[in-house]
Amino acid sequence: MRKIFKTFFAIAFLLGMKSRTNAQEMNKVPTVKLSNGVEMPQLGFGTLHLPQETCAENVANAIRLGFRLIDTAKNYANEEEVGRGIKMGGVPREQLFITTKLWIKDYGYESAKQAFEASLKRLGTDYIDLYLLHQPFGDVYGAWRALEELYEEGKIRAIGVSNFSPDRLVDLCMTARIRPMVNQIEFSPYFQQWRAKQWNDKYGVQVEAWGAMVSGSHPELFTEPILVEIGKKHGKSPAQVILRYLTQRGVVTLCRTANPEHQQEDINIFDFELNDAEMHAIDLLDKGHTMAKDHRSPEDVEWFHTKATR
Ligand SMILES: NC(=O)c1ccc[n+]([C@@H]2O[C@H](COP(=O)([O-])OP(=O)(O)OC[C@H]3O[C@@H](n4cnc5c(N)ncnc54)[C@H](OP(=O)(O)O)[C@@H]3O)[C@@H](O)[C@H]2O)c1
Repeated sequence: MRKIFKTFFAIAFLLGMKSRTNAQEMNKVPTVKLSNGVEMPQLGFGTLHLPQETCAENVANAIRLGFRLIDTAKNYANEEEVGRGIKMGGVPREQLFITTKLWIKDYGYESAKQAFEASLKRLGTDYIDLYLLHQPFGDVYGAWRALEELYEEGKIRAIGVSNFSPDRLVDLCMTARIRPMVNQIEFSPYFQQWRAKQWNDKYGVQVEAWGAMVSGSHPELFTEPILVEIGKKHGKSPAQVILRYLTQRGVVTLCRTANPEHQQEDINIFDFELNDAEMHAIDLLDKGHTMAKDHRSPEDVEWFHTKATR
């Protein structure tokens, strides 16, 4: 009897592994080449605001489904859970692309180096694929020197910035020894930063979108008639149309959900293509302003330095 049970569980385990492998094969995410030659997945799983109790399992499930880019930050206070989820996901470390970010409070040369080591420890890894300056405030230039050195020491595979408007980005590019490889900025159908993207392109900086689905704060996005209509034609949901639209335009895109069905949906966007007319129709949804904080407004800069600091 015990032998029958053992055989049954072994078969069930192997079948489970096989279906996970199939899901990962089906949901293979294409990559883009960064300016230093590192390959970065075009679609990534975001972890901001994931409930603490489900965060590790959400990350593990995302990896089982085929996500390889996992995005976190010191400021999300979840690097330990993300690190646990990465181990539970069961994919070799070298196949993953882990991003984390330095928070303003840790800017400056010395403190940036210490904060980086602390992030490594919390994540349970000995290198980071992409390390970003989270905000364009504080001692950006001291912090950037630390990132350049950590990159040269091989502890980070690519370095970058986040929320840098074109003026801040160009200034950093003009003074840095090593230019940022990525700029993670707000980017969605409601806030399309194509002009900013042109400046990033000019300096060889890959644009990465956060808030592609407006962080869930504008549910009407998911019932936009044009997204629903285009989705119906392709047998896809409005969320899938949004993610396809951004990745098709060359923007590496993050998505976040604690819902396993939405995770499955979000990764399943590379088996269809939007035509020019569909792309142009989505262009028209742009409202031309941020749906979150304005990184160029003095009030919001004060907020980042005081209220948002952990
Ligand atoms: N650098 C920065 O300053 C910065 C700022 C913000 C975010 N980020 C990064 O970018 C990531 C993504 O941005 P975000 O967290 O702001 O949110 P987001 O991905 O724009 O939106 C998340 C919302 O979309 C919903 N959603 C996801 N897939 C869906 C689907 N298939 N159908 C319907 N609804 C769906 C989620 O609801 P359900 O949970 O119900 O599915 C959630 O409410 C973050 O997690 C973080 O890693 C970076």
